[in-house]
Amino acid sequence: MSFPAKILIVDDEPRIRDSLKLLLDEQGYDVYTVSSGQEAKDILSVYQFDLALLDMVIPDMNGHQLMEHIYETSPGTMVVIITGHASLDSAIGALRRGAYDYLRKPFEFEELLKTVQNALDQKKLKSEKEIINGKLELSEERYRYLVQNSPDIIYTLDENGNFTFVSQAVKRLLGYDADQLIGKHYSTIIHDEDMERAQWIFNERRTGDRAAAGVQLRLKAAEGHEAFRACDVRHLAIELKATGMYDKPVLEPDKVYLGTHGVVRDISDRKRLEAQLQQAQKMEAVGTLAGGIAHDFNNLLMGIQGYTSLMLLKIDSKHPHYDKLKSIEQYIESGAELTKQLLGFARGGKYDVKPVDLNELVEKTATMFGRTKKEVIISTKFEQDLWAVEADQGQIEQVLLNLFVNAWQAMPGGGDLALETKNVTLNAAAVSPYGLPPGSYVKVTVRDSGLGMDENTQRRIFEPFFTTKEMGRGTGLGLASAYGIIKNHNGIIEVESKIGEGTTFTIYLPASQKMVQKDAGQEGIILRGPETVLLVDDEDMIIEVGAEILEALGYKVLTARSGPEAIEIFKANKGQVDIVVLDMIMPGMGGGDAYDQLREIDPDVKVLLSTGYSLRGEASEILKRGCNGFIQKPFNIKMLSQKLREILDNHTG
Ligand SMILES: Nc1ncnc2c1ncn2[C@@H]1O[C@H](COP(=O)(O)OP(=O)(O)OP(=O)(O)O)[C@@H](O)[C@H]1O
Ligand SMILES: [Mg+2]
Repeated sequence: MSFPAKILIVDDEPRIRDSLKLLLDEQGYDVYTVSSGQEAKDILSVYQFDLALLDMVIPDMNGHQLMEHIYETSPGTMVVIITGHASLDSAIGALRRGAYDYLRKPFEFEELLKTVQNALDQKKLKSEKEIINGKLELSEERYRYLVQNSPDIIYTLDENGNFTFVSQAVKRLLGYDADQLIGKHYSTIIHDEDMERAQWIFNERRTGDRAAAGVQLRLKAAEGHEAFRACDVRHLAIELKATGMYDKPVLEPDKVYLGTHGVVRDISDRKRLEAQLQQAQKMEAVGTLAGGIAHDFNNLLMGIQGYTSLMLLKIDSKHPHYDKLKSIEQYIESGAELTKQLLGFARGGKYDVKPVDLNELVEKTATMFGRTKKEVIISTKFEQDLWAVEADQGQIEQVLLNLFVNAWQAMPGGGDLALETKNVTLNAAAVSPYGLPPGSYVKVTVRDSGLGMDENTQRRIFEPFFTTKEMGRGTGLGLASAYGIIKNHNGIIEVESKIGEGTTFTIYLPASQKMVQKDAGQEGIILRGPETVLLVDDEDMIIEVGAEILEALGYKVLTARSGPEAIEIFKANKGQVDIVVLDMIMPGMGGGDAYDQLREIDPDVKVLLSTGYSLRGEASEILKRGCNGFIQKPFNIKMLSQKLREILDNHTG
């Protein structure tokens, strides 16, 4: 205490009063004296005293009354009673009522000082304790605040595993009232499948730095909990950290286990992201696999197609093998359809990107589809001045057909198929989840009145090989390839469906400023020519059948089995080669590099790129660099003959 202690002396005997004051003044105390109860009350209303020395016998008031008054108005003041022989009993009574001590007259000076000093020490202790208690209360309140406001659930269990405390986060995360859980066993909220693990963790009673940390469990949500009702999830994925509590330090052998305290963190979002990532990686891996198979398969089909075409070229429709060969061609087409789906899913790039009018494309595809599916009633609502999109027409057609076929399959007894196109502007919020820029998009809606699907199915429909159809009816590639193609066109495909209420697929493709060009379209005619063709491919089969086809069409043919060989032959026959048919994927020097080198030798070289499979738009890259055209394997004789003439007869390019 930096200030001298303030002492009040209440005594009606002036001699005692003055001598006491004198003595205590000398000790450095700040001493006040009064002679009556009333005076005492008056001065007490002005000053706070550390100590009051009270004579129990004063004229105007009972000593006990005064003491009561002091305790009421100034509870921090210590009281020491001064009393004569006669009132020993009342001194003891005063002690019982809370006086600190008493002095019996006559008392020694030493005794007085000691009592006063003790009383003041006691007061100091008392106030320190009060401060500490206050601080404790404050810090407790702070901790309570922290615990209750933590986004994690903080809990304690007793030695049997019953909750003794749960923080309020449990309400938000799981839907239980914290009070409702107190006294309940922890197993009430553990997912059935995780029960054994939870028990194991609890029984381990880990301690201190060997706390069980990073344990992942699933917790049961309260029935009908808001947060989960929407998405039909009844469990929360959590990470747990738990530590045993003991009555003594953990190293002591006879410690007694009191329970467990721990923290539970909601990791559902992280789990979801992990699952999404895994899913994406799986799609990527399956895509690579699918693309690889499609490539080889395509080359096989190409060979079969080539020889079939050659045989058909030499016979007419009356030939006994004519129909069989035509059937083979049809099987090849189905095979090519399959590789097309695989390639679409593998997102092997779009080849033939042109400004496309989706009204026209949707109309054309729907008409083609409707011709064979009379039980489906198709209605259309097209935006009149629909913006163009830059797309691979064949691929978008494939997407639409996949959607139409699915719709038809979802309407076993027939139904309505509503098609709609619309110009829309998508803002940042709408496109950001897809990593696309905001702006103008063309929206195509395909709505059926079929069976619809539940949420579990909806979540999985874009997965490759996910199908709900019986064996042999669906491969589960339709929507996977639609998804791959739309994504590759920087577009969005979404689904909305309810059981019994039909399904709506919505596609958004970025709008383009470019004008739509109409196809010249020369269907059905085989075109011949006398020029020299350099055929470059690493597959023997393609070289053999390709050369034969080209010769059958009248061309002179040179062949090369690799990029460098092609360059060599091109150089050796400078000025002789009218067109190069160049495979894009070859080991060593690929079609892209070969193309660049050919251009260096002859800037006007005409090149038709041929490929079945490309990585991430490689073909369109080469086309952008000026390559004259592109043909997709497996091509038939008609397609090849037309492409060649298209390029060779185009003198401006
Ligand atoms: N319009 C729809 N109505 C109801 N369910 C649909 C619809 N479209 C797709 N589905 C569901 O999505 C699943 C996956 O469709 P997807 O087109 O990828 O494969 P599939 O049709 O089963 O087989 P594939 O298209 O390879 O022949 C279907 O099996 C079906 O359960
Ligand atoms: Mg399908």
